[in-house]
Amino acid sequence: MWEMMEEAFDSELFRTRAHEAVDRLADAFAQGQAGDVPVRSGESPEKAFERWDHYQGDDFVNDVIEQAFRVHHPRNLGHQVGPVLPEVAVMDLVGCFLDTGSGIFEVGNPSIPMERVVMMDLVKRFGLPSGAGGVLTSGGSLGNLTALLAMRQKMTESWDSGSHECRYAVLVSEEAHYCVSRAVKMMGWGDEGVIAVSVDDEYRMRADAAREALVSARARGIQVLGLIGSAGSTATGRIDPLDELADLCEHEGLWFHVDAAHSGAFVFSKKMSPLLKGIGRADSIVVDFHKMLLSSGLLTAVLFKKEDDSYQTFAQKADYLWSKEETREWWDLAKRTLECTRPMLGLRAYTALRAGREGLFEEYIDHMMARTREFASIVQDAPDFELFLKPESNILCYRYVPEKVESGLLNELNEKVRSEVIKGGEFYLVQMEKHQQVYLRSTIISPYVTGEVFQSLLENIRNVGARLITSFCD
Ligand SMILES: Cc1ncc(COP(=O)(O)O)c(C=O)c1O
Repeated sequence: MWEMMEEAFDSELFRTRAHEAVDRLADAFAQGQAGDVPVRSGESPEKAFERWDHYQGDDFVNDVIEQAFRVHHPRNLGHQVGPVLPEVAVMDLVGCFLDTGSGIFEVGNPSIPMERVVMMDLVKRFGLPSGAGGVLTSGGSLGNLTALLAMRQKMTESWDSGSHECRYAVLVSEEAHYCVSRAVKMMGWGDEGVIAVSVDDEYRMRADAAREALVSARARGIQVLGLIGSAGSTATGRIDPLDELADLCEHEGLWFHVDAAHSGAFVFSKKMSPLLKGIGRADSIVVDFHKMLLSSGLLTAVLFKKEDDSYQTFAQKADYLWSKEETREWWDLAKRTLECTRPMLGLRAYTALRAGREGLFEEYIDHMMARTREFASIVQDAPDFELFLKPESNILCYRYVPEKVESGLLNELNEKVRSEVIKGGEFYLVQMEKHQQVYLRSTIISPYVTGEVFQSLLENIRNVGARLITSFCD
């Protein structure tokens, strides 16, 4: 038994294996960047399960890499999963092995003070006032829940008493990510707790519709605690009119939360940050580092205009971690997050920010926006494609509309085209549906994508489409 432990924890073996793994990764990274390999393996879930259930291979690292989706690949045109900065990956290995936890400072140095540095940097960039601060969480879903729990406590002080008899709700754009309504349901407010606000022709939340929904909810005896704006929304990447929504919240005494999981990164770009006008007036903001800030997931900043609010969220005793629940030391982060044991999130964010501060984030964001506009104009110029909306972020929706296919068959055609196109692993794209119409959806997130990639994607869709159209006509 002890012999096995000795081998498993042998530091020289670790050195050799880690060097080998990094060599493999660097090779795979270079191949992925160049687009010399498929962006994803076409293996079915059943076959994949079978492979790992009976795995007998002798090159585990290689087999894992071969089957894994390649986020850096130029033809990765799907979800909002960003390319990981090599330096972040290196420090992830360091952080993973040190694994000090970062709930309390006694064991959380250096990740916790690093987390503080990152938060203070973001506070300034988002234009939040002094007294603002925040924490890192594992993902935007948890980040939004954390912010909404703070809102609930600030507005109702129901942490201890519960909220059994109350009818609480928030105003949310009908375009918001599903995790917002999931968070509300976790708080026990049911369907009534999410008041969907309609959007304008550009898919941005309408402030006048939010005001009307507020009046109507109050007339029904519902206590509306807050409003949640999106920057940008998941399906179309649209940014709500944040300044106007902040006016409404200020006037009506609502908590203003902005889910900026995707486009919050725009604060790093002089060209793009004006789109976030008004975000500095929010009570809380969520921004994902693993979307547009070149970090591995999950890594989300939750910022509060009044840092004090975040100490109330989970106000409870934990004698084994801290002696006083009412004191507010920034270095005991578990007081303010759902997570108790936490990975070294601060180390990861600090590593990314060191590169980002030097202008890397700005260069990346501006480059991806330029590529997205290029893709949009290629789609617009193609008579057999239709652009859904001009891009406001690096998310683009479009559909294949060949002349000979009647409109009633276009949804089926686009769905089938997508599933055929991704089967071979040459491209990856996703889809979305608006007004009962299916669109293809791409996040232009790989720094290696080029105009030729977009042209060849459209060509690929046409080729697959031509085959399918023949079978439609049979
Ligand atoms: C706008 C928005 N908010 C929240 C989330 C959820 O974030 P996470 O996947 O980090 O939990 C997403 C994910 O795509 C998103 O697009």
